[in-house]
Parts: sequence; C-alpha cells; structure tokens
Amino acid sequence: AQLTIAVLVGSLRKDSFNRQLANALAKLAPPDFAFQHLRIDDLPLYNQDDDAHQADVVLRLKHEIRDADGLLFVTPEYNRSIPGVLKNAIDHASRPYGESAFAGKPAGVIGASIGAIGTAVAQQHLRGVLAYLDVPTLGQPEAFIHAKEGLFDADGGIGAGSREFLQGWMDRFVAFVRRHASE
Ligand code: FNR
Repeated sequence: AQLTIAVLVGSLRKDSFNRQLANALAKLAPPDFAFQHLRIDDLPLYNQDDDAHQADVVLRLKHEIRDADGLLFVTPEYNRSIPGVLKNAIDHASRPYGESAFAGKPAGVIGASIGAIGTAVAQQHLRGVLAYLDVPTLGQPEAFIHAKEGLFDADGGIGAGSREFLQGWMDRFVAFVRRHASE
C-alpha cells in the first residue's frame, strides 16, 4: 500500500531553498511513498477564541495531517527559531485541546540555511514542540543543510556533493515511517 507523507515547509518564499529541498528529497524516496505538500499560507492567525469553530482551511490541514502516515518538516531558521508561519500552522493543527491532529505521527525534521549552522537551532526548537505534541521524530542522522551553489542539480534533484548523505537520511526516514505504520 502507498504511504503518504505530509510535507510542511516553513517558508512561503517563491524560490525557497527549503521547498526545493523538500521536492528534491521526495525524489530519493521509494515508489510507494507519496509526498503531499500542505498549504499553510492561507491559514488565519491562530486565535483560541476560534477553537470551537475552526475555519475550513484549518479543518483541511488537520484532515491532511490525520490522513498521513508520516510528516516531513523542512524549515528555514528565522532568528534562531522556526518561522512564525510554521508555528502558526502547528498551533492550529494541535487544537482544540484533546483534538490535536499530530499525536503519534512519525516525523522527519530537516532544513536548509544560507547560514553556516544550517537551521540547527530552529530544528532543536521544532523537536521540542513536536515532543510535546507526541510526535516521534527521527533522531539520527541529523541534517543541517547549507544552501550553497551546487546543492541542487539541473533537474531539481540533490546535487552530487550531498546526494549520498541525503539518500542515507531518506533511507532512515523511510524505515522509521514504515516501522510506525506497521505498529
Ligand atoms: C533569516 N535567515 C537566517 N538564517 C539562519 O541560519 N539563522 C537565522 O536565525 C536566520 N534568521 C533569519 C530571519 C529572517 C526573518 C529571515 C527572512 C531570514 C536567513 C535564511 O536562512 C535564508 O533567508 C533562507 O534562504 C530562508 O529559507 P528559504 O526561504 O530559502 O527556504
């Protein structure tokens, strides 16, 4: 059977390195894995007053997360944390209390930055949030990707310099999701 991975990209930027990374990673997955990018740019700002009547776009997001076999977070680092747009989406899908869409979904966390430490601090913050939401995350290998010339090849795949490393990352992520799906 097909396994679906819900992809959450923490950047709304048109030419986002992280969106390109998400697309390139999908090419490294086996054919029974399908990657679905979830929209987060049309969500309202989270307001707890709306918990009793969540907007249709929020219900859509929660439905997509619940339907998925795994999650893939591909995020930049903004000011040493995760971007507000990603936290906003997570807050929406975690509510109302007791009706989180996240519980038990296995997740991979990865990100690319033009900075030298490649989203390490943002990923650490995200792992803390996900631990609270009962989302098990792939611990190793960690992947802090430096967005520099040659990261992607001409076809939008991972460039030669990082391909072996990121194939190894994807293989571990795939095994992690399969293990959870069979439980
Ligand atoms: C950044 N950037 C950044 N990079 C980093 O490594 N650590 C950081 O704390 C920050 N902080 C930060 C804040 C804000 C508001 C912006 C707009 C940018 C730079 C960031 O890595 C770069 O813009 C990436 O290209 C963003 O990812 P996308 O949009 O290409 O996916």
